[in-house]
Amino acid sequence: MDDVSDDAPVVVAYQTIQRKRDGLELEAAELEGFFRAYGAGTVPDYQMAAFLMAVFFRGLSPAELAALVEVNLRSGAVVDLSDVSARKVDKHSTGGVGDKVSIPLAPLVSCLGVAVPMISGRGLGHTGGTLDKLETIPGFRTDLSLAEFRRQVAGIGSALIGQTGEIAPLDRKLYALRDVTGTVESIPLIASSIMGKKLAEGIDALLLDVKRGPGAFLPELDRALLLARTMIAIGERYGREVVALVTAMDRPLGYAVGNALEIEESILLLQGEGPPDLRQLTLAQAAEMLVLGGVAASLDAGQRLAEQALADGRALAQLRRIVEAQGGNPAVADDPALLPQAPVQKVVEAERDGWVAEVAARAIGEAAVALGAGRATLDAAIDAAVGFHITAKPGDRVGRGQPLATVHARTPAQGQAGAAALRVAIRIAGEEPAAALPLISHRVTRAGVAEL
Ligand code: URA
Repeated sequence: MDDVSDDAPVVVAYQTIQRKRDGLELEAAELEGFFRAYGAGTVPDYQMAAFLMAVFFRGLSPAELAALVEVNLRSGAVVDLSDVSARKVDKHSTGGVGDKVSIPLAPLVSCLGVAVPMISGRGLGHTGGTLDKLETIPGFRTDLSLAEFRRQVAGIGSALIGQTGEIAPLDRKLYALRDVTGTVESIPLIASSIMGKKLAEGIDALLLDVKRGPGAFLPELDRALLLARTMIAIGERYGREVVALVTAMDRPLGYAVGNALEIEESILLLQGEGPPDLRQLTLAQAAEMLVLGGVAASLDAGQRLAEQALADGRALAQLRRIVEAQGGNPAVADDPALLPQAPVQKVVEAERDGWVAEVAARAIGEAAVALGAGRATLDAAIDAAVGFHITAKPGDRVGRGQPLATVHARTPAQGQAGAAALRVAIRIAGEEPAAALPLISHRVTRAGVAEL
């Protein structure tokens, strides 16, 4: 990270916090100086936490947002992938429960000739993180150096890493702080976090999966659409094409929630199995990326290419290549039992006949964090093996005693606690419930919003 240079403005941190708290607009230089000082360690976590909370309530002006994107992006190196001839396209999700799409998507799209340089985050709040999931693969390194990252993208078409000390290190620090200070759910903070690191990774285009519904950081559709438009506008300023799909996060995606469990489900998908909703969303995102990458002329053509690559094993073979290149054991692609396994498994059954009225994504995400699958404090370790496998979906007809889910836990007491949480989160009603949110409801581009 850059040091604070001699000519940077003197940042009096508490005054910057007060100005933001009082709703005044900060000069770009003041905002950048404050964030750079935080990156350099001279503004402590507690002052940044107070500032972030002020942003949560006051928002950022367009000029402040532009300054924050710029400071995030410039906090580390901007990767130059100009020697990779394929178009470089990444995808980022605003965060969900059970959202493991990036894991099958990167091999699926990159095996079809679009380069996918992917920089991902860790679990945030009640949502899981791609990095935490990937690190459950024995040996898998997410901390490649910039040179290794570049070499791997040029060599096999994809690499999946975290914000290293080299790429967007400021966002890594802010992200971890926001995770434990109740400051995630802010449009400018989410937009600057995502776009800062994505613009640093050398991409030509970006696909965003913007979640909405009670399990998303921004549950309301209008806020999800505003976030999508905000990120598209940031991309435009930097000359990058950005497309966003708005997708459902009222229930978890797929069946698995928990780090190793989600890797296992991703592998099943690449083996041609896996839950239908995960398959549908992965194929839709792959089609968008193949069009953005210039490999498919239409979304239909992209979808067909992706379906073929799943069916004939090319995407699975590409996962093996990526895992091996990053030091992991490629045999997991054929034998997910090599992943960490929880010692306790407890089945949760329906307590009555009826319809599944709700599978509450947020409550399930929070229960997964309580089991150890996510972090409650900055330096907490996560438990790779724990989580849930929930096959019940909203609208399913179920009979008393029918299995709805399995809790994977470290101890019997945790298994009981997880089961109790699921009995509340999976609500069974006597009458057929209203339809859940459509899996993919809107497509947002520079041209506007299309309802699907
Ligand atoms: N994903 C990110 O990378 N940052 C956020 O702030 C939220 C989701």
